Amino acid sequence: MPNRPTDPPALATRLAGVTSSIVRDLLALTERPGIISFAGGLPAPELFDVEGTAESFATVLSTGARAALQYSPTEGNATLRAIVADRYTALGLPTRAENIVITTGSQQGLSLLAATLVDPGDAVLVERPSYLAALQALTLAGARLIEVPSNGDGVDLDALAELARRHSARLFYTVPTFHNPTGRTLDAHQRGRIAEIAQQVGFRVIADDPYHELRYSGESLAPMAAFCDSDHVVSTGSFSKILAPGLRLGFVRCDPTIKPGLVVAKQSADLHTSTLDQAAAAHYLATGRLSASLARARCEYGRRRDALLAGLESALPPGSRWTNPDGGMFVWAELPEGWDAAVLLPTAIAHQVAFVPGASFFASAPRANTMRLSFTTYDPETIAEGTRRLGLALAG
Ligand SMILES: Cc1ncc(COP(=O)(O)O)c(C=O)c1O
Repeated sequence: MPNRPTDPPALATRLAGVTSSIVRDLLALTERPGIISFAGGLPAPELFDVEGTAESFATVLSTGARAALQYSPTEGNATLRAIVADRYTALGLPTRAENIVITTGSQQGLSLLAATLVDPGDAVLVERPSYLAALQALTLAGARLIEVPSNGDGVDLDALAELARRHSARLFYTVPTFHNPTGRTLDAHQRGRIAEIAQQVGFRVIADDPYHELRYSGESLAPMAAFCDSDHVVSTGSFSKILAPGLRLGFVRCDPTIKPGLVVAKQSADLHTSTLDQAAAAHYLATGRLSASLARARCEYGRRRDALLAGLESALPPGSRWTNPDGGMFVWAELPEGWDAAVLLPTAIAHQVAFVPGASFFASAPRANTMRLSFTTYDPETIAEGTRRLGLALAG
């Protein structure tokens, strides 16, 4: 008699509670014709420097193809690491190339840091609300997420210190500049105090800063690690928002106590980031074309932010509040208590407009009356039409 098949084993328990990102699921909507989607955080493709990028790929392939198509060191392309270090230094955070590891997007940096710094069951402090895919990476590593309340302008610092002590927290994950999803920026005082609390209580901070250079108004601030005279702040950054996300190029700035572990984690994940993409990016950055392309993006995104903020005035119901970000890609809106953005989404889609319900950005006790709107993808006229549709949808 043939043996009856036995069920295959279940999935790893670390996947319990990790759900697919609603943002990525919603991205499918942006491909439906006619929808104006404020849901995704997509840079504007018409602002990519396609010509400059193509030239750099062509140059790399015509002058050093055999090296560019070969395996390469896990830490990343030496020229690119030096350029990233110089860019940090120019932003006010002196950095050496040996402190940089190139990653496959900064999302990989977050996963590798979670694998390197978190043991299952460790308490990890996160902002409330927080970047969804970081919550996923930390949860996959077994972190016990503890939310730190915000006090309007930023992180509630007393709560941060108290929760860190009470839970013997190992890490605090923050997006200091033009936060995803809220758009808010931690000021110099908050940056300094967070670094001080981390040193006093003895936890590390992951300062995830992919939007740092996308500022459209206000004074620029040094990266968070510049406010710390010790190794308590690890930084992640990205070329996704300033060059092109399809290149999947990010980086981690870390000290020598972390780097060897991070490199082992990266070896096990993908050996190294694409040799060709790194070489082309290093060539592109050396041409100096990024500053003109970035200046253009800042100018255009600033106009798009203003269009969204203006449109929300009449689109959102009385009693709503929303953030007024100095940069980045997102505005966070709070509808009056009792409203539920997830319930409203199908009506919005019927009106050919989309947003992300805010609930998925909370590690616990989601606030249903919140939503995230991205302003970078469309020109101001389309944004105005999108907010008009949103107003119609919310009216009813
Ligand atoms: C706060 C934050 N961190 C990290 C990432 C990951 O970006 P990438 O992997 O493209 O560098 C994103 C992307 O939206 C983000 O918003």
